[in-house]
Amino acid sequence: MAPIYSRIIATGSALPERVVSNADLEKIVDTSDEWIRTRTGIRQRHIAADGQTTGDLAFLAAQRALEAAGVKAAELDLIVLGTTTPDIIFPSTACLVQARLGANGCAAFDVNAACSGFMYALGIADKFVKSGQSKKVLVIGAETLTRMIDWNERETCVLFGDGAGAVVLEASSEPGIHATCLHADGGYKELLWNPVGVSTGFKDEPNHGVRIRMAGREVFKVAVKTLDALVDETLQAAGMHESDIDWLIPHQANLRIIEATAKRLAMPMERVIVTVDQHANTSSGSVPLALDYAVRSGKVQRGQNLLLEAFGGGFTWASALLRF
Ligand code: COA
Repeated sequence: MAPIYSRIIATGSALPERVVSNADLEKIVDTSDEWIRTRTGIRQRHIAADGQTTGDLAFLAAQRALEAAGVKAAELDLIVLGTTTPDIIFPSTACLVQARLGANGCAAFDVNAACSGFMYALGIADKFVKSGQSKKVLVIGAETLTRMIDWNERETCVLFGDGAGAVVLEASSEPGIHATCLHADGGYKELLWNPVGVSTGFKDEPNHGVRIRMAGREVFKVAVKTLDALVDETLQAAGMHESDIDWLIPHQANLRIIEATAKRLAMPMERVIVTVDQHANTSSGSVPLALDYAVRSGKVQRGQNLLLEAFGGGFTWASALLRF
């Protein structure tokens, strides 16, 4: 029997309207546009409006991806949504989006892998398609990470933004996703986390203590090293070489981390999709937002090989090498 591949047939994304520049942040914390740009590459971020949720952004991104694919919501047999900032504890944001799209009945669930959420969701969806279980899948990465930011804490508040991206996957006899690699090491949990939750009890702190805590320099070091090994592993799993890759579409956390990965792959920055300047770190939203930008701007063309990767809290890290 011929192998089944999963192919990305369309992409979509959504960003909140409100844009906050580095200069805007200078007014609320002791920082500077120069510091933020040189350390991270970030110039601005989009921030969700009051009452605007992860599910709202996910729904918009999903609608745009389905429209571009020419696929009706009722045709979907699976929705996988990567997020760390679900609208409510349950039902999952995937279920909330499913109902709004009118895809009722298909399987729908969330994946929490912090900033690797979309890459995990894509890896899982790929396995569903390859096993013959699913034919048309909606994969979403969506976050309102700024909801858990302390706007007095300059170390973290300058780094993050809100947004969502989505892809429609279809079963195909043509490649397709060649390889996905998913990893985690919970031993690093305290370097990047939000230690508040249901089972441990919500703390009586301002903002319920729901805020990101991060050891930035340590995260940076592990991220660069881990992503180096990840891209090697992914190339090997796909049986490809650096020169086979047309575009690197990395997680958009920090331009210096992106440049380090590009260097490892011997790729010039002209073949790397960079949106961190516009979006900052949108966690699970980051890779699909960058992919949608790359597709809609005409940079990425059908038939090209794309390497997608992400790294985040957990730590988690994951990748996909695919023919678009
Ligand atoms: N504005 C101005 N100064 C700031 C600042 C800000 N927003 N945030 C921190 N600083 C200060 C620090 O207090 C420190 O001051 P000190 O030297 O007087 O102690 C100084 O800047 C340098 O901090 P340092 O941590 O050494 O900077 P860095 O070069 O490591 O850059 C990060 C900091 C956070 C940008 C960088 O470490 C990083 O991007 N890490 C990875 C974070 C990440 O990507 N997380 C998500 C992963 S999914």
